[in-house]
Amino acid sequence: MKSLVITRPDDWHLHLRDGPALAAVLPHTVRAFARAIVMPNLKPAVTSVAAADAYRQRIVAAFDAGKRGGAIAAGARFEPLMTLYLTDRTSPRDIALARASGFVHAVKYYPAGATTNSDAGVTALERAFPALEAMQKHDLPLLVHGEVTDPAIDIFDRERMFVDGQLQTIVSRFPGLRVVAEHITTREAATFVEQARPGVAATITVHHLLYNRGAIFQGGIRPHFYCLPVLKREEHRRALVAAATSGQPKFFLGTDSAPHPRGLKEHPCGCAGVFSAPAALELYAEVFDAAGALDKLESFASHHGADFYRLPRNAEKVTLLKEAWTIPAEYPFGDETVVPLRCGEQAAWRMA
Ligand code: NCD
Ligand code: ZN
Repeated sequence: MKSLVITRPDDWHLHLRDGPALAAVLPHTVRAFARAIVMPNLKPAVTSVAAADAYRQRIVAAFDAGKRGGAIAAGARFEPLMTLYLTDRTSPRDIALARASGFVHAVKYYPAGATTNSDAGVTALERAFPALEAMQKHDLPLLVHGEVTDPAIDIFDRERMFVDGQLQTIVSRFPGLRVVAEHITTREAATFVEQARPGVAATITVHHLLYNRGAIFQGGIRPHFYCLPVLKREEHRRALVAAATSGQPKFFLGTDSAPHPRGLKEHPCGCAGVFSAPAALELYAEVFDAAGALDKLESFASHHGADFYRLPRNAEKVTLLKEAWTIPAEYPFGDETVVPLRCGEQAAWRMA
């Protein structure tokens, strides 16, 4: 049996939701990850420091309640790293307040209409320039959902078009701004980040490392593989694996675990989002193992993100064992259930 001890990792892109859904999914993340960049796409969106503070307190309360109720281990520690949701109206003052708060670590840019709860997002990049200028000045990173929203553009081309256009514009117009291309899915995005100036990085999800777009149609329509940006061709998956396992500090772990109730996934117009938290770290280990790059897992999962965000690396360790287990078919999710990635099938690695 193979085993691997690594520094406890962090999740640099996570959807924790709110209320009973938050209470249901939080234990899956804190089991493996010490910190997480928490996405602000609630309804209403987290657009102010006050809203981010209130959300942070609800996460901490859910964490404490999870410990009292036994869903979270008594000795567990978890720090939510909050983000603001960029809108057309985000002001330089909002950015200064965010920087001063100490708990807001980044600002998320959703092009309006790009994904779940993005309707409050930025309607034209130029409208965000004053906020981006302030973020550059205060050294607050910009996290980008990199897809164009023009419905005339083929869904499989939307990231590539965004990289050539808006991402290039942001990176060159604001040369001191730290930028994370979130959940990249294409060879073009990986190459762009690799060749970009310092201060440009990317997160990569475990589902985009494991699967190509064929998974959505394997023997029938499989809504639990539907997320945004959508899975791409095999050549892109391979490029992402090469980037993640390259050891380059520009690439780090971000699950984009995005739970939706089963009924809204298995639906005539199903929601986008893959719920990967229950086996995320284990499945990343599987990817790195298959690539013969287990020695690169720790830097990708536990070092590069902390370094980019200028936070200390975690001191604690976790142990991974190469020992198969079956991922449950579903988990409780408030009054409903949520279906995890690889539901009912085996994961090759488990956490000790
Ligand atoms: C995310 C969600 O459900 O909030 N969905 C997804 O498919 N990734 C939104 C997002 O990150 O795009
Ligand atoms: Zn996301």
